[in-house]
Amino acid sequence: MKNFTRFESKGLTESLLKLAKIYKREPWRDHELGKGRRLGAVFLNPSLRTRNSLQIAADHLGLSMQEMNMSRDSWALEMSEGAIMNADKAEHIREAAGVMGAYFDFLAIRCFPNLVDKEADQSDDVLKQFQKYSKLPTVSLESASRHPLQSLADLMTISEHSKKDQPKVVLTWAPHVKAIPHAVAHSFAEWTLGMDMDLTITQPKGYELSDEFTQGAKISYNQEEAIADADFVYVKNWSAFQEYGHTPKVDEDWLLKESQLQKLAPEAKIMHCLPVRRNVELADELLDGDRSLVLHQAKNRIFTAQAVLATLLKQPTSIKV
Ligand code: CP
Repeated sequence: MKNFTRFESKGLTESLLKLAKIYKREPWRDHELGKGRRLGAVFLNPSLRTRNSLQIAADHLGLSMQEMNMSRDSWALEMSEGAIMNADKAEHIREAAGVMGAYFDFLAIRCFPNLVDKEADQSDDVLKQFQKYSKLPTVSLESASRHPLQSLADLMTISEHSKKDQPKVVLTWAPHVKAIPHAVAHSFAEWTLGMDMDLTITQPKGYELSDEFTQGAKISYNQEEAIADADFVYVKNWSAFQEYGHTPKVDEDWLLKESQLQKLAPEAKIMHCLPVRRNVELADELLDGDRSLVLHQAKNRIFTAQAVLATLLKQPTSIKV
């Protein structure tokens, strides 16, 4: 594994999950693995879980991590090739990433989509420019297209709480007050389907996800039909993908209720990546009830990130040019 930016294979995922479970039992067992190595963590967008879990994971491995809030602590970045930089952007990505390549051994980047230019977002142009000009092994901390660290923690959480070899997993759209990226939903589909899991996706008309990520999933426009007999219900909002970044009006009530689960999926556990808007996206009764796995998911972010960092650290040191 040279980078960690997307699902690669079932075999790699199984080995990362196995290692993450070992680290959950013994977090300090490889506390010298990262000694003398540096991780630069660049945040172009806010984060609570990803930032802190990555820092704790790095600490467990003795890896020195330095983080930077790009939008607040550094110069505004110009991303366009051939730009005449006579406006507000003071530094070009070529120099910014190039300098980081000289300072660090690994780079981790959080860069959300703009939800305007679908092609640029889905090609992960910001992430790729950081990779190209830093020449460093890279970890995605959520890019425009995907959130792989979240998905790996979600798989770990499902595996810890599943009573079946092949649980029924449902990804359901939920309401929100603003346009939300597709990265978590797309990644969750990519990783669960990559692991040959039984995935049903339910959403209102107009909120269909990209075929690139959902091939092999059952699709339903009826939430109650979709959640019947579910073992895990992953609740998440996303904006429209076809009418990119728009939020078409939805007349039906998509806020999931405990009474629906009692009737249709009494064993179902509830998942969400967080942050969550209470009683908009997910009701108090579900978040605070016994079904909720949201804090387990958040805790597992530490050990899955640790497994990813450890796997990268075990690769032969990259030669910089
Ligand atoms: N789930 C998640 O990535 O949380 P943060 O945005 O707080 O990092």
